[in-house]
Amino acid sequence: MGRKTFDSIGRVLPGRTTIVITRDKTWGQPGVYSANSITETLQKLQSTGRKGFVVGGSSVYEVFRTIVTEVWLTKVWSQAIGDTRIALVSDDFALVECMRISKAKEDSAPTELQRWVRQIILHKSTNTH
Ligand SMILES: NC(=O)c1ccc[n+]([C@@H]2O[C@H](COP(=O)([O-])OP(=O)(O)OC[C@H]3O[C@@H](n4cnc5c(N)ncnc54)[C@H](OP(=O)(O)O)[C@@H]3O)[C@@H](O)[C@H]2O)c1
Repeated sequence: MGRKTFDSIGRVLPGRTTIVITRDKTWGQPGVYSANSITETLQKLQSTGRKGFVVGGSSVYEVFRTIVTEVWLTKVWSQAIGDTRIALVSDDFALVECMRISKAKEDSAPTELQRWVRQIILHKSTNTH
C-alpha cells in the first residue's frame, strides 16, 4: 500500500504482511516493511515467498496496474462523493467472475464483486489445458 493509504488506516492491519511504499527513506513503523521504489517493493514481496496484493491508493494502483495479473474489484452501489479516482480495468483484462451481494442488515449498500484476469494469462492457461 501507499504511505497515504497507511496513514488513512492509521494502524497495522492484522493477519497479513504489509509493505508500505514511500520515497521517504527515514519512514518506518513497527510491524510493517517499507520500500522506496517499485523494485524494492517487489524484492521485499519475493523475500516473503507469498502472493502480493496491491491495496491502493490511486497512485500505487496506477503504478502496479501494468504488472498485476488480476484485478479484484468491489463495487459499492451507493452515491458517494470521492476525491480520488482510478480506472483499473482496460481491454487488457477479461471479466471472469461477478457476484452480486444484496444489502444485509449491517450494510449501507449492496455490493458487487468482480474478478478480472489479464487476457494474456487467460489465453496461456487455455492453451495449456
Ligand atoms: N477504495 C479503495 O479501494 C481505496 C484503497 C486504498 C486507499 N484508498 C484511499 O485513497 C487515498 C490515498 O490514495 P493516494 O493515491 O492519495 O495515495 P497512496 O497511493 O496511498 O500513497 C501515495 C504515496 O505512496 C508513495 N509512493 C507512490 N508511488 C511511489 C513510488 N513509485 N515510489 C515510492 N513511493 C511511492 C508516496 O509516499 P511518500 O509521500 O511518503 O513518498 C506517495 O505520496 C486515501 O484517501 C485512501 O483512503 C481507497
